[in-house]
Amino acid sequence: MNIGIIGSGNIGAELARKLSAAGHMVKLANSRGPDTLKDIVDGTSISAVAKEDVATDADVVILSIPFARNAEAAALLANAPANAIFVDTSNYYPQRDGRIAEVEIGKPETVWASEQVSRPLIKAWNAILSQTLIEAGTAPGTQGRIAIPFAGDDLAAKHVVAELVSATGFDTVDAGDLAGSWRFQPGSPAYCTELTIQELEAALSNANRDRSPSNRDAIMKAISDGTVAMTRAAMAANNRVMSN
Ligand SMILES: NC(=O)c1ccc[n+]([C@@H]2O[C@H](COP(=O)([O-])OP(=O)(O)OC[C@H]3O[C@@H](n4cnc5c(N)ncnc54)[C@H](OP(=O)(O)O)[C@@H]3O)[C@@H](O)[C@H]2O)c1
Repeated sequence: MNIGIIGSGNIGAELARKLSAAGHMVKLANSRGPDTLKDIVDGTSISAVAKEDVATDADVVILSIPFARNAEAAALLANAPANAIFVDTSNYYPQRDGRIAEVEIGKPETVWASEQVSRPLIKAWNAILSQTLIEAGTAPGTQGRIAIPFAGDDLAAKHVVAELVSATGFDTVDAGDLAGSWRFQPGSPAYCTELTIQELEAALSNANRDRSPSNRDAIMKAISDGTVAMTRAAMAANNRVMSN
């Protein structure tokens, strides 16, 4: 497939590497331009492109930029073919993104992001630590394979996205439509907790919409004050404890 990725940070760059290694034609763009992507694309078959060109012939466009900047991507997604599939990896962190009133009062994050870009989005790869994405992918059928949730309103598009998630090393659980995607936002038990399919299904059904934002903020505080080490193992273990 032709895959365009907007955002070349922790998540976008690793998705580019994995999807390219899986045989897809990957174009990667950031805000600064293709010259700044040399370190990522050299020695790979990933194409570094200008952000205005990233979506033009894409079957799938993955948006992997800070949540509050999603509106900036609207013009880029307008360049995509009519039948392209759009994926959102973003999460709302008010400490980084500023307070966004509609999200604060409960609009699911990717519903808000969809409105910013005027495209239907599938939410995926948001509930995995970047280090987990980099280190912990395994082949389908591997005992204990980590699963990640995804959600969206288009069943056919979700099927495509689930296949792509598997190609990056992870099982999937379909968490339903986008309106229900609050079940795997930051601070929920399904968010960055490294669970198997069965464990993830239970975590999704145990999500508490009211508690997740305060869990998220308490987790961020524990990381910033050094109570939790910034290692994959410590962060995933702490998320499991503090996200109930
Ligand atoms: N880090 C994690 O563990 C993790 C896990 C799951 C989901 N997420 C979410 O996924 C998203 C990306 O996370 P990240 O850690 O990869 O972020 P990051 O390292 O900060 O990278 C963000 C990327 O977005 C690009 N960008 C920003 N505005 C843009 C625009 N208008 N047009 C094109 N590119 C733009 C930046 O470009 P420049 O490089 O030119 O600045 C940068 O490459 C965030 O919403 C985050 O919350 C993160």
